[in-house]
Amino acid sequence: MMTVVSQKLLAPKIYELVLQGELVNEMKEPGQFLHIRVKRQDLLLRRPISLADINPQEKTCTLIYRVEGQGTLDMSELKSGDLLDVMGPLGHGFPVADITPADHVLIVGGGIGVPPLYALSKAITAKGANVHHVLGFASKEVIFYEEAFKALGEVSISTDDGSYGTKGHVGTILDQLVTKDFQPTAVYACGASGMLRRIDQQFHDHPRAYMSLEERMACGTGACYACVCHLQQDETKTKSKRVCKDGPVFQTGEVVI
Ligand SMILES: Cc1cc2nc3c(=O)[nH]c(=O)nc-3n(C[C@H](O)[C@H](O)[C@H](O)COP(=O)(O)OP(=O)(O)OC[C@H]3O[C@@H](n4cnc5c(N)ncnc54)[C@H](O)[C@@H]3O)c2cc1C
Ligand code: FES
Repeated sequence: MMTVVSQKLLAPKIYELVLQGELVNEMKEPGQFLHIRVKRQDLLLRRPISLADINPQEKTCTLIYRVEGQGTLDMSELKSGDLLDVMGPLGHGFPVADITPADHVLIVGGGIGVPPLYALSKAITAKGANVHHVLGFASKEVIFYEEAFKALGEVSISTDDGSYGTKGHVGTILDQLVTKDFQPTAVYACGASGMLRRIDQQFHDHPRAYMSLEERMACGTGACYACVCHLQQDETKTKSKRVCKDGPVFQTGEVVI
């Protein structure tokens, strides 16, 4: 169980939830997620939500989520002091052990895939590396954490409707940014599958390019095989990986998106 410290509306339908508890001691890797049991008795399956920030001193962690259906709607009604049934941290997060101050890191996020990239960027910048964030949103009104990311490194934003930053998807910015003069030494991405496919193509053979995937989940711990994805280099088409346990972060070129 974790205790709700605060809940704030960041943008229409997008909430920032701060939780406190001993579980924070186990949260070491950005990109891991919590599996949340909401209060509504009829919603038996837990909801996976990524860790957006981890603060060991305060024993708090932050989740940022968008209200999609009944589960996240139920979460949005949580008030400070409420208890929340939380399982985790789960999965394999983004590898950051190899990061050095010499690295030029590209972080690419889209919409509700942006939250885990904040904890990631904090972990990378703490190691002295240089980070450029490329973040895509549907429109100006659903942008969140722009200032927080700017405090860590450069930020380029695109919006689908052109209401802020570059018009179009993040690929438009990547075309201009990634040139012979700037080749990132490490790449990290999280977002919709279309965006991830683009990253997978562009950085297919990059030795340090990682993507966080989403799949519908049930157990969240690797037992039920609800969340499988297939390996790219598998001619038999029989080998699979579980997003909850083997992922959610995979290297580019590893799995079919
Ligand atoms: C590893 C991981 C990390 C995630 N991190 C975030 C995050 O930080 N912020 C955020 O807003 N969303 C995140 N999601 C998506 C989030 O889990 C879904 O939006 C949420 O479960 C929807 O629940 P619901 O009851 O509101 O919607 P409903 O549509 O009513 O959900 C019905 C069922 O489908 C499952 N489901 C629905 N959409 C998804 C989805 N996209 N992925 C997995 N299961 C889904 C639900 O868990 C539930 O079991 C993440 C998903 C995964 C797999
Ligand atoms: S959700 Fe059960 S194996 Fe991944």
